[in-house]
Amino acid sequence: MVPDQTKKTLSMSEILNLGFIGIGKIAGAVIEGLCTSEIENVEIRLSPRNEKNSVRLSERFPNVHRMESNQDVLDRSDIVFLCLRPAQAEGILTGLSFQPNHTVVSLIPLIRHSRLATMVAPAGSICRAIPLPPVTSHHCPIPVFHATETVVNVLNFIGQTLPVSNEDHLHAIWTLTCLITPYYDLLNELSSWTQSHGVDSQLANRYIADLFESLAHAAQMEDPVVFRDLAVHAATPGGMNERTGQLIRELGSHAAYRQAADEILKRFPG
Ligand SMILES: NC(=O)c1ccc[n+]([C@@H]2O[C@H](COP(=O)([O-])OP(=O)(O)OC[C@H]3O[C@@H](n4cnc5c(N)ncnc54)[C@H](OP(=O)(O)O)[C@@H]3O)[C@@H](O)[C@H]2O)c1
Repeated sequence: MVPDQTKKTLSMSEILNLGFIGIGKIAGAVIEGLCTSEIENVEIRLSPRNEKNSVRLSERFPNVHRMESNQDVLDRSDIVFLCLRPAQAEGILTGLSFQPNHTVVSLIPLIRHSRLATMVAPAGSICRAIPLPPVTSHHCPIPVFHATETVVNVLNFIGQTLPVSNEDHLHAIWTLTCLITPYYDLLNELSSWTQSHGVDSQLANRYIADLFESLAHAAQMEDPVVFRDLAVHAATPGGMNERTGQLIRELGSHAAYRQAADEILKRFPG
């Protein structure tokens, strides 16, 4: 994902009505991302829960409206984003009346397309997408599955869509999103080690954030991206990177990441 590589192509004379069911952390981020983007002619309707978030968003953005009920949201929306927790979703969705003109965008990880289709029948189009909180700054990869052109166009305002055509592959990719906490934990550990050698905390944190950002950016600029080649290129024979790479692998860090990913992937429906 290289910033601004995706052309934003939504240009409409008619209003596009977006609805959100479940206004928690990710819905809040997507709505904030959209309302601070260049998208135009969009009205956004929110389910009443979570009250604090939906009131805050509707007071902040003039095109965001908190509705009386989930059904009110559906009745006024063309595209409906489902932002509910997996365990709650079925009970909530089966009590609602979807229509054939609805496009449903599910952000829910553990419900397959086919099962979702029965819950939101007779909705005409169903897709799955994985936006993450950085969509607030319009810089975030967004894997999408079965997305319509309009959904892709909308999501391209808050990130960079990445089509995935196989649902099991989508689940493997979704598993990677569980590395956010371990990733920041790793950066924190490295910062703590640096500070233990007397370096000021903000100097350490700034350097670590910028170092990893620059390494990721260098990989993004490759075509094709081959991480193994980048690792070998950085490892001067007999040098410090080569030795550190060996030590960390021998200590089992890579195996721990694989084992954790295997365990999370098992939660997804086969
Ligand atoms: N957070 C992320 O970065 C992220 C990224 C991609 C996908 N997702 C997925 O997106 C979904 C939501 O995640 P989240 O982190 O935003 O969770 P969350 O903060 O817990 O949001 C879920 C929301 O659903 C609301 N809700 C509960 N019952 C409802 C009902 N009957 N009608 C309408 N809304 C109801 C809750 O309101 P109350 O607070 O009033 O109960 C809550 O605001 C999950 O499936 C998650 O796995 C999350």
